[in-house]
Amino acid sequence: MTQFITKIKIKKMNIGIIGTGSIGSTLAEKLSNAGHQIKVNNTQDFAELSNIAEQLGAKAATIEDVVKDVEAIILSIPFSAYKDLPKDLFRDVPQEVVIMDTSNYSPLRDGELAGLEGKTESEYISETLGRPVVKVFNMAWAYTLKHQSKAAGEKGRIAISIASDNDEHKRLAAELVDQIGFDSVDGGSLSLSWRQEPGTPAFCTELNVEELKEALNEADKGTAPAIRDYTIDQLMKADPPLSHEQAVALMRSGSSKI
Ligand SMILES: NC(=O)c1ccc[n+]([C@@H]2O[C@H](COP(=O)([O-])OP(=O)(O)OC[C@H]3O[C@@H](n4cnc5c(N)ncnc54)[C@H](OP(=O)(O)O)[C@@H]3O)[C@@H](O)[C@H]2O)c1
Repeated sequence: MTQFITKIKIKKMNIGIIGTGSIGSTLAEKLSNAGHQIKVNNTQDFAELSNIAEQLGAKAATIEDVVKDVEAIILSIPFSAYKDLPKDLFRDVPQEVVIMDTSNYSPLRDGELAGLEGKTESEYISETLGRPVVKVFNMAWAYTLKHQSKAAGEKGRIAISIASDNDEHKRLAAELVDQIGFDSVDGGSLSLSWRQEPGTPAFCTELNVEELKEALNEADKGTAPAIRDYTIDQLMKADPPLSHEQAVALMRSGSSKI
C-alpha cells in the first residue's frame, strides 16, 4: 500500500453534499469558506433546508439537484439510509464526478443490513449506489473536523485516511482534506478500507501522518467488530457524556479492553 497521495491542485468547484448533520454541516461550512460553491440536501422541508444552507454559506437543493452540475458529491447520511436514496440518483452524473462517502456502520445503530456481510462498508455503499465511492472523513470525529484544523506543515496536524479504487478521485479528495486543515494518508483500495473502519487503531484516534500509517498497518480485521461494539456501547451509556478528550482516549484504548 502506498501511503502518500500526490494532491492535485483544483480550481474552485461545485460540490453537492447530502446530509447536513454533524459531519455534513462541518464539511459544507469549511468547503464554502475555502471558496467552493456548495449545495446541500437533507430530509427537511425546503424552507428549513434553505435556513440551514444559508447558515453554512451554501445553497439548498432538492435531492435531484444536489447531484447535478457538480464536480464532487459528499454523502454524509446514516449508513442504513443509503438503501433508501432514489435508485437512479446517479444515473446522469458523469463518471468523472468524485463521490465521497463519510459513513460508518454500527449494528447497534443501523441494524442488520442485507448484502453487507463479507464486504467492506464502502464496497457495500458502492454497490448500493451503483457507483464507486471514495471513503474519506469517516475516521475523524465531527468535533475533530470542526475544531482541529491546522495549516499545512504546522506541528501536530491530524491526518485523514482516504481509500478508493480511483487514484484521480483519491487525489482530489486529498486536496479537499488539505484545504480544510488536515493531512492525508493513502488508505489503499476499497477492499482494504476495513483498515479505517470503526474498531481499528486509525478510527477516531487523531493521529498524525506517521502514526496513521502505522495504525493502518496494525489494523486487525478479526477484532475490529468487537472493539467497535465495545466503544459504541461505552459512548452510548456514558452519563454524563464523555468529553471529546475522553472519547479519543476511549478509541485509543479500545483494543486493550477486548
Ligand atoms: N458524528 C461523527 O462524529 C461522525 C464521524 C465520522 C463519520 N460519521 C458518519 O458520517 C455519517 C453522518 O454522520 P453525522 O454524525 O453527520 O449524522 P447526523 O448528524 O445524524 O446527520 C445525518 C444527516 O443525514 C440526513 N439524511 C438522512 N437520510 C437522508 C436522506 N435519505 N436524504 C438526505 N439526507 C438524509 C439527515 O437529514 P435531517 O437533518 O433532515 O435529519 C441529517 O442531516 C454517518 O454515516 C456517520 O456514521 C460520523
